[in-house]
Amino acid sequence: MANTRVGFVGCGGMAENHIKALAEHPEVDLVAFCDLNPERLEYVRNTYGGPQTQTFSDAQEMFQRVELDAAYFVLPPFAHGPEFLAVEAGIPFFVEKPVDLDLKRALEIQAGAKEKGLLTAAGYMNRYRQGVQKVRELLQEDPAILTLGGWIGRTPRGRRQPGAGIGSWWPVKERSGGQFHEQVTHTVDLVNWLVGLPVEVHAYGARGLNRGTAPHYNIEDAMVVNLRFPNNAVANLWSSCSSNGGGGGVSLSVYANETTALFTGWEHSVRILREGGQSEERIPGEPDIFKIESYAFIQAVRTGDRSLVKATYDDGVNAIRVTLAANRSLEVGGPVLVNE
Ligand SMILES: NC(=O)c1ccc[n+]([C@@H]2O[C@H](COP(=O)([O-])OP(=O)(O)OC[C@H]3O[C@@H](n4cnc5c(N)ncnc54)[C@H](O)[C@@H]3O)[C@@H](O)[C@H]2O)c1
Repeated sequence: MANTRVGFVGCGGMAENHIKALAEHPEVDLVAFCDLNPERLEYVRNTYGGPQTQTFSDAQEMFQRVELDAAYFVLPPFAHGPEFLAVEAGIPFFVEKPVDLDLKRALEIQAGAKEKGLLTAAGYMNRYRQGVQKVRELLQEDPAILTLGGWIGRTPRGRRQPGAGIGSWWPVKERSGGQFHEQVTHTVDLVNWLVGLPVEVHAYGARGLNRGTAPHYNIEDAMVVNLRFPNNAVANLWSSCSSNGGGGGVSLSVYANETTALFTGWEHSVRILREGGQSEERIPGEPDIFKIESYAFIQAVRTGDRSLVKATYDDGVNAIRVTLAANRSLEVGGPVLVNE
């Protein structure tokens, strides 16, 4: 079987995790890189490209000139839309989370992919973790009642990755959608997968309290978001990018009638406690999760086995339904329905 020919639209900091993993995959050829930043293009081509790798500053040209078996879109939240090129060309595609900042556009991409029957993936790598899968299995029988979680981090003070550009969009609400949309989307996706899709969202946002922020910073310093589920289970999720004293980080705690799952850290290591259980189960998070995720997508493309992909574009759309509902709730100052 021939190697899988992969192209990237967006070759910044996050794309490099996938590019690096795929450069080591014996059945993948990295045939095309597209980025608006010429320095970045040169860097990824020189570091990970081969003799066959072409570079482009325009995604349309890339799709016209290069024959692809799969495409990755690793773009800032506001910059989505090039996915339509993969839809038109009928090529399987992977989109990094959050899949868009514009729900209407995402729904059009979703409908186009569905019409063509395309294999899609969204960058929710935590679904590939053994611990997450074990907890999901337990919660199928013993549903979650209370869920708490989120991301608490430091003040963004400037460009985090010179040359890659994240500093220019992350602290800007119209570009990233804010921390809840951009980062806590991981937790929202896990909640969607482990608990179910919420029906109602009520968010509060703290503003104007963060000091020494990056230029153009206009996102919430912190948010708390209440969620209600169809079976009346509840969740409270949070974000903070204003906590410089430490003691924050990533966490997710799920409490069911007989089961407690306590995830901690970026790697989502989990402690599972059961009613009447003699000992707790601990499952450490996998460090090489981007590689696991990307290899699953490539294997699905090569074999046609879609069950290998644990987060699809549809799942990506469901996550932004919730995070954009939280942003809407801030705007209207009260609870909103997720699907209104
Ligand atoms: N899965 C994860 O844990 C994880 C971690 C970090 C970032 N991300 C996500 O990955 C995405 C990208 O983040 P990043 O950290 O790589 O940002 P980045 O700013 O480092 O990279 C984005 C790149 O996209 C390029 N770009 C923008 N518009 C383009 C266009 N129209 N055509 C081609 N290139 C274009 C920019 O020049 C830049 O190089 C974001 O959605 C972010 O949320 C996911």
